[in-house]
Amino acid sequence: MKKTVKDVEWRGKRALVRCDFNVPLKEGKISDDTRIRAAMPTVNYLVEQGAKVVLMSHLGRPEGEPKPEYSLKPVADRLAELLGAPVKFIPSPTVVDDEVRAAAAELKEGEVMLLENLRYRKEETKNGADYAKELASLGDVFVNDAFGTAHRAHASTAGCADYIPCVSGFLIEKEVKFLGQAVEDPERPFVAIMGGSKVGDKIKVIENLLKKVDVLMIGGGMAYTFFKSQGYEIGKSILDEPNIDLAAELLQKAEEMGVKLMLPVDTVCAKEFNNDAESATYFVDEIPEDMMGLDIGPETVKAYKAVLETAKTVVWNGPMGVFEMPKFAEGTKAIAEILAGIDAVTVIGGGDSAAAVEQFGFADKMTHISTGGGASLEFLEGKVLPGIAVIEDK
Ligand code: 3PG
Repeated sequence: MKKTVKDVEWRGKRALVRCDFNVPLKEGKISDDTRIRAAMPTVNYLVEQGAKVVLMSHLGRPEGEPKPEYSLKPVADRLAELLGAPVKFIPSPTVVDDEVRAAAAELKEGEVMLLENLRYRKEETKNGADYAKELASLGDVFVNDAFGTAHRAHASTAGCADYIPCVSGFLIEKEVKFLGQAVEDPERPFVAIMGGSKVGDKIKVIENLLKKVDVLMIGGGMAYTFFKSQGYEIGKSILDEPNIDLAAELLQKAEEMGVKLMLPVDTVCAKEFNNDAESATYFVDEIPEDMMGLDIGPETVKAYKAVLETAKTVVWNGPMGVFEMPKFAEGTKAIAEILAGIDAVTVIGGGDSAAAVEQFGFADKMTHISTGGGASLEFLEGKVLPGIAVIEDK
């Protein structure tokens, strides 16, 4: 068990809190504040407990330079709205400077400040010891609550823990509980649904999950590499060529392990990668030479549904098709709807599948939607995430 914010007597102490405020911005405005809202239980708790709260995060990849378009100022404004109290923000190009140090020292109990984008300094992603020490000097206790960045060993996600004690926030605690329990101690039958475009990106997750699940369902672009490995022609569909043999090995491995690996039986194909392109549904052994598969078909949905309705735990990572285009969104939408309606623990890996579940309006019907894209994938691969490893044990 890891220590959490609840294991600290906060009154008068400075909490240095790493959040993942890496939110999408459109024309300088936050287009999805999920990650900010997900941090609020920890921030509110610290405020209520009388801590002096110093928040920090990265935003995008400014590559070690202070670039105004990556400033965290919009996040500070949104935080202030959600808190209903001011959030002090000093747009320092060096993140930490005398003014920032003075502001952190002068914080009163329950007050909150936010540092500028941690990646304005190149030492951040290199886990530079001096930078970690500078950041750590702003707090008495380091609270890591940035699940989305927990797979990075950076100065602010791991390095700070070399200088001050480290506990987790409520978000990391919740993510580890739901993702961890789903994978390590699932109520069975346990079904994993894997989508996305490349087998290569998901290979380690599939290998790890094969050891845990009863059924593995494949969808999305990666399915075509599996079809190719079975000798089918896939027309102009996406092919992860270097991983064709790997796909064959995974099919074999699943069989040896007694895991039911389900592949789509039909696919919605189009002439072009375009919502207005001519399209039709084909069985997977009939994909025309001049077409590409862009979604799972209705027969696949039917087959997956029959199995999902018997599941007690489902983990889903990766869309079933090109759900950004309405014509090829039906498969992904159908899976989201099935998961919303079944009596099972449903855990959605972050990134595209989380976005899809939100887009189709089923988010509140899922047991847990991870805020981590890369982080949840690495967690499902069975890796120890550096940002979690540094949190002290109870
Ligand atoms: C994410 O959005 O996955 C995290 O914020 C990590 O961002 P990164 O991939 O730039 O490290």
